[in-house]
Amino acid sequence: MEALLQKIETYRREIEAFPSNENDAAEQFRIAYLGTKGLVKSLMGEMKQVPAERKKEFGQVLNEFKQFAEAKHEALKAAGAQHAVSTTATIDLSLPGDVIPVGSRHPISMMRHRIIAIFQRLGFSVAEGPEIEDDWHNFTALNLPEYHPARDMQDTFYISTDPAWLLRTHTSNIQIREMEKGILPLRIICPGRVYRNETISARSHCFFHQVEGLYIDENVSFADLKQTLYYFVQEMYGNDVKVRFRPSYFPFTEPSAEMDISCQLCKGEGCNVCKHTGWLEILGCGMVHPKVLQNCNIDPEKYSGFAFGMGVERPALLKYGINDIRLFSENDVRFLKQFTGLV
Ligand code: DAH
Repeated sequence: MEALLQKIETYRREIEAFPSNENDAAEQFRIAYLGTKGLVKSLMGEMKQVPAERKKEFGQVLNEFKQFAEAKHEALKAAGAQHAVSTTATIDLSLPGDVIPVGSRHPISMMRHRIIAIFQRLGFSVAEGPEIEDDWHNFTALNLPEYHPARDMQDTFYISTDPAWLLRTHTSNIQIREMEKGILPLRIICPGRVYRNETISARSHCFFHQVEGLYIDENVSFADLKQTLYYFVQEMYGNDVKVRFRPSYFPFTEPSAEMDISCQLCKGEGCNVCKHTGWLEILGCGMVHPKVLQNCNIDPEKYSGFAFGMGVERPALLKYGINDIRLFSENDVRFLKQFTGLV
């Protein structure tokens, strides 16, 4: 019994000294002293060892001890609440938040979106096709049969030769795939990445991006083509841009043309970018060749159409004042960060 009273006295001192600076001090205290496995409970278990004549006395001591522990628990709870209040009070709500770095759109994506959006306003819808292509869709159906000299115009990356699988050299493959579906009229704009085996330099790369356009219906004329492209350049470059068409050759169009716009940098005066001509070539176009229509089971007597294809890199270089095409694919964060916030 004396030993027990001694023990209780020691616990009392422990409780007095129980630290209140921990966040969950009250809860820790409750578990240690007042919980179902706590000290008070276990002291109560000692009651059976106390001789009968001293049970009452021990009961009183124990009761006081319990009340003492409960009072301490209340005090710790109050201190904890106080602590919480004082920590919130020290938060300075006027401090600026952490800066979360945001990504940026790639200049090629932005330019592709601008081009697409203009044609969408004219009723064109977006169509896409595979980058790994067969010979038929990239060449043969486009009136570029085997041994056609025009195949040399585009240095092709072949994946296999028999049968031929290749990385598409232009987005014109999408024209064929869409015409083959046989749903007419057809009015599509086809963005995509294309590949050519060219030496990488500031001006050319072994991959780049194109946007192809195709319109097939009854009575589509060259005038429709010109008007569509006039609309495009005015939306893209403003009302005072000048346009010229030069006769050209593409196997898949007849007649074919290339379109130039007045140089946006020197306004036609002549500068390095336009090689002192005052003009910049921006796209190839023409009336879809009857053979191409036939290859896709479209009756050239009934239907006609125009097509055009343009690069995305060139207009992006001009718009953002970039002088090296390699920057587009090097993923240098310092370069990419400059476009943050632009759409
Ligand atoms: N496929 C051509 C090229 O890559 C671009 C082109 C020219 C596409 C005329 C056309 C077109 O659809 O009609 O150089």
